[in-house]
Order: sequence, then C-alpha cells, then structure tokens
Amino acid sequence: MNLLEVRGIVTGYGEMEILHEVCLDLQVGEIIAIIGPNGAGKSTLMKAIFGLLKIQSGQIVLKGKEITHLSPDRLVHLGLSYVPQVENIFPSLTAEENLEMGAFILSEDLTARKEKIYQLFPPLRELRGRRVGKMSGGQRQMVAMGRALMLDPQVLILDEPSAGLAPKLVGGIFERISEINRTGVSIIMVEQNAKQSLKLAHRGYVLASGRNRFTGTGKELLDNPEVGRLYLGG
Ligand SMILES: Nc1ncnc2c1ncn2[C@@H]1O[C@H](COP(=O)(O)OP(=O)(O)OP(=O)(O)O)[C@@H](O)[C@H]1O
Ligand SMILES: [Mg+2]
Repeated sequence: MNLLEVRGIVTGYGEMEILHEVCLDLQVGEIIAIIGPNGAGKSTLMKAIFGLLKIQSGQIVLKGKEITHLSPDRLVHLGLSYVPQVENIFPSLTAEENLEMGAFILSEDLTARKEKIYQLFPPLRELRGRRVGKMSGGQRQMVAMGRALMLDPQVLILDEPSAGLAPKLVGGIFERISEINRTGVSIIMVEQNAKQSLKLAHRGYVLASGRNRFTGTGKELLDNPEVGRLYLGG
C-alpha cells in the first residue's frame, strides 16, 4: 500500500522554483533513499513533504488523504516525523529534555517512551543529563533521531543522518535506522553516503537539478552503470 505519495510537486523559495514535478512513493515498511548531487533539491523535497514550504502545484498524499497544504504540527499528529539536516537539536537543553520536546504535545507521563529510546540508543541513557551542545556529532544525531521517534511516527524523514559523523560511526547509525525500520517505521532517508544508503534501502531515487533522474530498487541503482558513473563516484 502507498503510505506516502508525492505527485509531481513544484515548489521552491520565493520566486525561485527548485523542485520541478517531483514524484516519489513510500510503501508500508520500506526504507527509501534519496540521493543526488549537492543542491539537487533533496532537502527541499523533505521540507516540502513536512509542510515547511508552499507547494505551487502537485499533491502529497498520506494513507489516501491529501496533506499537501497541511502544517508540520498537523502532520505530526498524522504520524509524520522529520529530522532536519541542520539545527535538529536544542543545544542548550539536555538529551532528556530534547526527547521530552519531541513529545511536548502529549500530557501523559513520558517515562515509557523515553525508555524505548534509551533501549534503541543505549549511550543516551548515560548522557541523558548532559547538555546536547556539549556532545559529539554522533551523540547529537542519536538525540535528534530519538526526539523524532518520541511520538511513534509511522513515517520518519531523515535528512543526512550520517552527515558529519566519523566514518567509523556511519555504520552504527545505519544499523540503528534498520532497527527502527524493523519496529514498523517506514523511512525516507536523504544521504551523501549514496552507496551505503542504497545497500540499506529497499528502493532509491536519484534527484538532479530538482527533477527525478533515476529510480529503482537499491540493487538496480547500484548496478546501473550510468548511476554509478554520475552519482556514486564511478
Ligand atoms: N532557504 C533557502 N532559500 C533560498 N534558496 C535555497 C534555500 N535552501 C536551499 N536553497 C536552494 O535550493 C537548491 C536546492 O537546495 P537543497 O538544500 O534542497 O539541496 P540538497 O540536494 O539538499 O543539497 P545538499 O546535498 O548540499 O544538502 C539550491 O540551489 C539551494 O541553493
Ligand atoms: Mg540537503
């Protein structure tokens, strides 16, 4: 079943059109990877899905319901969650307070929800009282992803989860993403580590200059010589 469908959206910043009729779909249970050169419009696409940009034309549909012009706070209630590429944590708050911010719309006790996040990211349990501004890149990324998971989303949007991480930590973050997916969360992931992300993802999309360029299973894209030459470094 199409969990999320982007149908030919056109959007950008002010007068500047960045995405030109971009399409994608996400099936229940999938991880899809969005790759493409710098400036291709990957982050713009994620912002558009999460209701942060004015959509000029086209539609976004979640579980058969049109969500094109809904605000982020409405989308959160409908099961979408988003970890932006930048400014995805509150540096002056502790790890635990960041997690709590992820569920501030709930009036219930958050202990059980936080416990689930500490099970997924064990280092955060020790670090829960520490200010996130003092943490390493890898620890911050765990906080950012943990915060985004506090409301048990159905769809998790991750913009460059491995950005800025030491190479030896990238595999660990990808393993966590797989684990989150196995708990039933469908995932849209933008990645610079294109090869690694296509190995992890069920399917992928190559965006270039704000347009769909290639799509297929992770393996099809990895095996496609043109994709390899143009977008995977040969
Ligand atoms: N807030 C903004 N205002 C105006 N133009 C923007 C803004 N953000 C991005 N752009 C422009 O939109 C285009 C697409 O940017 P976007 O950030 O979506 O690319 P990207 O594929 O995510 O790139 P990267 O791999 O560097 O993260 C670029 O030309 C960029 O300069
Ligand atoms: Mg980006």
